[in-house]
Amino acid sequence: MVSPFRIMKLPSFVFVLMVVAVGITSMSKTNGAISNDIGKKIERINKRGPYLGIVVPNSYEMNPLLNSSSFVADGEFPFLDFSGRRFRFGVLGNQKIIVAMTGLGMLNAGITTQLLLSLFNVKGIVHYGIAGNANPDLQIGDVTIPQYWAHTGLWNWQRNGDGANDDLALESSGDYTRNIGYLRFSDYNNATENGEPIENFLNNVWYQPEEIFPIYGTPEVRQHAFWVPVDKYYFIVAKKLEGLKLGSCVNTSCLPRTPVVVRVQKGVSANVFVDNGAYRSFLNTKFNVTAIDMESAAIALVCIQQKTPFIAIRALSDLAGGGSDLSNEADIFSSLAAQNAVYAVVEFVTLLFS
Ligand SMILES: *[C@@H]1O[C@H](CO)[C@@H](O)[C@H](O)[C@H]1NC(C)=O
Ligand SMILES: *[C@@H]1O[C@H](CO)[C@@H](O)[C@H](O)[C@H]1NC(C)=O
Ligand SMILES: *[C@@H]1O[C@H](CO)[C@@H](O)[C@H](O)[C@H]1NC(C)=O
Ligand SMILES: *[C@@H]1O[C@H](CO)[C@@H](O)[C@H](O)[C@H]1NC(C)=O
Repeated sequence: MVSPFRIMKLPSFVFVLMVVAVGITSMSKTNGAISNDIGKKIERINKRGPYLGIVVPNSYEMNPLLNSSSFVADGEFPFLDFSGRRFRFGVLGNQKIIVAMTGLGMLNAGITTQLLLSLFNVKGIVHYGIAGNANPDLQIGDVTIPQYWAHTGLWNWQRNGDGANDDLALESSGDYTRNIGYLRFSDYNNATENGEPIENFLNNVWYQPEEIFPIYGTPEVRQHAFWVPVDKYYFIVAKKLEGLKLGSCVNTSCLPRTPVVVRVQKGVSANVFVDNGAYRSFLNTKFNVTAIDMESAAIALVCIQQKTPFIAIRALSDLAGGGSDLSNEADIFSSLAAQNAVYAVVEFVTLLFS
């Protein structure tokens, strides 16, 4: 299952060898992971590449792009379904693109992105969607473009009683680290006894980097990555989006100020929907986080391993846990946020290759 995908990025002589090997062992079978029929279609599609991959979490965020007058679906090959995913082909501005919807969360985002890069001739990835906001200077509807993304859901949960000076479990073997820092649950206790805060048993969770296996590394020899930078050139181009005109009203409800596109320092992702003000403000204070979502870092981690340029454009749709009257209006304005993200993506793709 895995090997046919992997070999796409190997030198061609390895590819030939493996095709020969696969050909010999599966001569009598036609039900391989990639059928002949699909393989031929992929080959034809790839001959027309390279494409820019547009990766988006769900239909709520994807539809405004598909509906945009700037997008024209391919007349001959509008889409190809593979492994439960649909890869849509078309042109955005004057760029050939493949649009892939991932579904919710890190696993889906990682699988879909890897499939996209393994199957198709893709020169870069633009990811977009809506996000929670941890940055009190920004508001719903603003479009953020973080320079770094981290997965903040890989934890080493420390034994109760141990503290910042104690080794974590398996730290000495290099599996875990105390370099990134921790969240201490008892900092958030809100009960006292005789004036003293009451301890709890949750102790600390220490943030961990991902193990990565880049195509330019040695197979099975891990490297580590926590803050993954977006592509340098894409980030420079993104600066030109500042000043882009965005929508600020849904029907007769308008935001207090016109939304802006802004490059920010950091975004984080995890399989956690953060509707919690205390955690949002922790992420902002500790890591200087603006955008909080459930996919971007997974896509960043795949792209860095595949050496594919990547950027994420995320429109703020709520305050990730309240703190303002506006957060109550996230239901009204999240469609506006999704649309604003699409405005920014369309403009970005136009600028990227002009
Ligand atoms: C947007 O796209 C979706 C799915 O492609 C479709 O159901 C919907 O009617 C479209 N909306 C508009 C306003 O075109
Ligand atoms: C503790 O809880 C009370 C009641 O919800 C709240 O008013 C107070 O601000 C909380 N204190 C802290 C330190 O969070
Ligand atoms: C934190 O992020 C903001 C906005 O993303 C940026 O302007 C600022 O320089 C960052 N602060 C630090 C200390 O890096
Ligand atoms: C805006 O108006 C349209 C048409 O009347 C309606 O379908 C939609 O639900 C409204 N949106 C919001 C968020 O109120």
